[in-house]
Amino acid sequence: MPKIGIVGAGNVGATTALYVAQKELGDIALIDVVDGIPQGKGLDMLEAGPVLGYDSKIEGSNDFAGLDGSDIVVVTAGLARKPGMDRLDLLKKNAEIITSVTENIVKYAPDAQILMVSNPLDVMTYIALKVSGFGRKRIYGQAGVLDCARYRSFIAMELGVSMEDTQAIILGGHGDTMVPLPRYTTVSGIPIAELLSQEAIDRIVQRTRDGGAEIVNYLKTGSAYYAPAASVVQMVESVLKGKNRVLPASVMLEGEYGLDNVCVGVPVKLGENGIEDIIELQLSDTERDELHASSAVYQESLSDLGM
Ligand code: 2OP
Repeated sequence: MPKIGIVGAGNVGATTALYVAQKELGDIALIDVVDGIPQGKGLDMLEAGPVLGYDSKIEGSNDFAGLDGSDIVVVTAGLARKPGMDRLDLLKKNAEIITSVTENIVKYAPDAQILMVSNPLDVMTYIALKVSGFGRKRIYGQAGVLDCARYRSFIAMELGVSMEDTQAIILGGHGDTMVPLPRYTTVSGIPIAELLSQEAIDRIVQRTRDGGAEIVNYLKTGSAYYAPAASVVQMVESVLKGKNRVLPASVMLEGEYGLDNVCVGVPVKLGENGIEDIIELQLSDTERDELHASSAVYQESLSDLGM
């Protein structure tokens, strides 16, 4: 069985572990610094196995040594903003956490790929890449699959069609500068412009950009986790089964799309070696300007961090 490490046993990490077990994608090491949480959640999930019908082993631990032998490590650790903390304070704090988590991955799972989930996603992906030295094929961030999942759900709801029949691609960073591409959005191959008015498309695009905040506003004390975890699992499955799914992921760009030394979301082919290929779409001038504006936000965060 492949082994999947999950760092952070909060809502996103624990839900990811459960979905991974339900799909029997491999054995799971659930790591968290809080004593008892990964052990308790891991054992509870293991005990659901006889009823739900899976044999994945799930081991919770406070020790990063538990990552030993992982094929892929999903990183969900990090802080949410606390009262009195500004954006840069949060960025610095999470940068420290991700640096230390990455050092532990290098130490205990030197052959693993890293799937970043912690926010701000595109910056944390960049940090993991720089700290690990693993190379850009093995480090990628989950955000575009989630953003597309939201976009696709809103389209399906608007049209009263199956969620499964919607297809989309979103470029750029995971935030309100993301760049949904209605031109590349279809319902079973039918461009959405043939099915929806421009007003409806604009409304859906805006709701997608605000998708994370919409859930935070409902939950008040936390952020989304069911759709984020589902999105992570789709990427893990594509890697472990060598499916070569074409999905958006945050990756280090080295000249693609006219961008360099920054991680943002672009379509990739995701397979057993991680990023097998980066797909460069022909963009209109407006789309390209929006993508560059989105990436500038993350370049600024990196320079705030002195990177
Ligand atoms: C989301 O978009 C917070 O990144 C998380 O829901």
